[in-house]
Amino acid sequence: MPSEELTRKMKQTVGVEAARMVRHGDVVGLGTGSTAVFMIEELGRRVRDEDLRIQGIPTSFDASVQARKNAIPTFTPDDVDRVDIAVDGADEVDPDMNLIKGRGAAHLREKIVDGMADRFIVIVDESKLVDRLGSKCPVPLEVLPMAVRPVLRAVEALGGEPVLRMAAQKDGPVITDQGNMVVDARFDGIDDPVGMESTLNNIPGILENGLFVGLATEVLIGSISGEGRIEVDRRS
Ligand code: A5P
Repeated sequence: MPSEELTRKMKQTVGVEAARMVRHGDVVGLGTGSTAVFMIEELGRRVRDEDLRIQGIPTSFDASVQARKNAIPTFTPDDVDRVDIAVDGADEVDPDMNLIKGRGAAHLREKIVDGMADRFIVIVDESKLVDRLGSKCPVPLEVLPMAVRPVLRAVEALGGEPVLRMAAQKDGPVITDQGNMVVDARFDGIDDPVGMESTLNNIPGILENGLFVGLATEVLIGSISGEGRIEVDRRS
């Protein structure tokens, strides 16, 4: 397993590379997480040094904070007619560029913004690649607080193992940016991501799930070469 420092460098390399794909005048979806933050920082550098003019659409409270820190003007999806390019991380990426997202509980807004984009660029280090979605990570579900127990039962009936996500530095559950809760549903491999995405969203009380199917247009994968150099592979 690569060291923390090498993993950080892989994330930084793909983040910077993706930020360089953004053009003057673009409406840009700003992703959430430890990889996307490098992309936002590089965009900030380009705004300062290259007079890059963009409109940022943050996918979370945290992404808005990062955008503000980097002097990137921000708007909501409601303010714009289109998103030219969105850049975001992922927890798992399968060979068809389908994803699991939501480790940071931002998948509801991420799916709105990433789903609006003409180009949705996914940035990951090589540890995120899987043959089958759900083989490592559970599928995060954003759930209306009053519906948590019915949702837990419905996910169990589908053969999943659901767990209400608990906060690390607060008593009780994680609360999303929208004031909802998160249930992590483990399925031990998902054969039909398309079917599973709509099955989950049809359960009353689930506001969005972390399966992103058919949305990514390109994936940038940071990896380590034999000589220990960071390389970027592209899938499209
Ligand atoms: C946020 O909820 C997530 O969807 C992140 O985009 C995803 O977990 C990737 O995050 P890292 O880049 O921190 O691994």
